[in-house]
Amino acid sequence: MPTVEEYQSKIKRVLITKEEIDAAIVKAGKYIDSLYDGRPILLVSVLKGAFVFMADLCRAVSVPCEIGFMCAKSYYEGTVSSGVVKITMDLDREIEGYHVIIVEDIIDTGRTLNDLVQVLKARNPLSLRVVSLLDKPSRRLVDFKGDYTLFTIPDHFVIGYGLDCAEYYRNLPYIAEYGE
Ligand code: IMP
Ligand code: MG
Repeated sequence: MPTVEEYQSKIKRVLITKEEIDAAIVKAGKYIDSLYDGRPILLVSVLKGAFVFMADLCRAVSVPCEIGFMCAKSYYEGTVSSGVVKITMDLDREIEGYHVIIVEDIIDTGRTLNDLVQVLKARNPLSLRVVSLLDKPSRRLVDFKGDYTLFTIPDHFVIGYGLDCAEYYRNLPYIAEYGE
């Protein structure tokens, strides 16, 4: 376990402030409201990274809204572009009849979401979209595009606002670059 000095020294610099996140979430909420125009939605958050984003985003939408959580991990061999997504915790209901939005923390290689979208599509939701807090397009290994991204960032490892490094830093109220 790190000392508090080690812990703090790895927070290299703030990339996105709490105020910038708050403003972007207001916009994302309005985007969702305008798309669904009063129709009920189900927000599905991928744990653990998206839990903070989910908590704020769900309070920024005005359409009737349910929330659900799942845990998913993708496994790959070598350089294959599609893998086996292992659902380690599944939704507690069927999604047939729901307009579903997957709420993700970050699109990196794109593999997790690519696989997860296939899994959820097979369950026949009325519609399925992906809203992601962050996107690192330069890291993409599969051709995946979210429907709405709040911030596009360069190839830095980032922490805070739900995102971790070895499970630490999820509780930072801003997004920072991690490093020596
Ligand atoms: P992908 O399948 O490569 O797109 O993986 C996405 C997952 O990797 C995210 O949901 C994060 O949990 C994790 N991840 C990717 N980049 C970062 C980062 O910069 N900081 C923290 N976690 C990250
Ligand atoms: Mg993670």
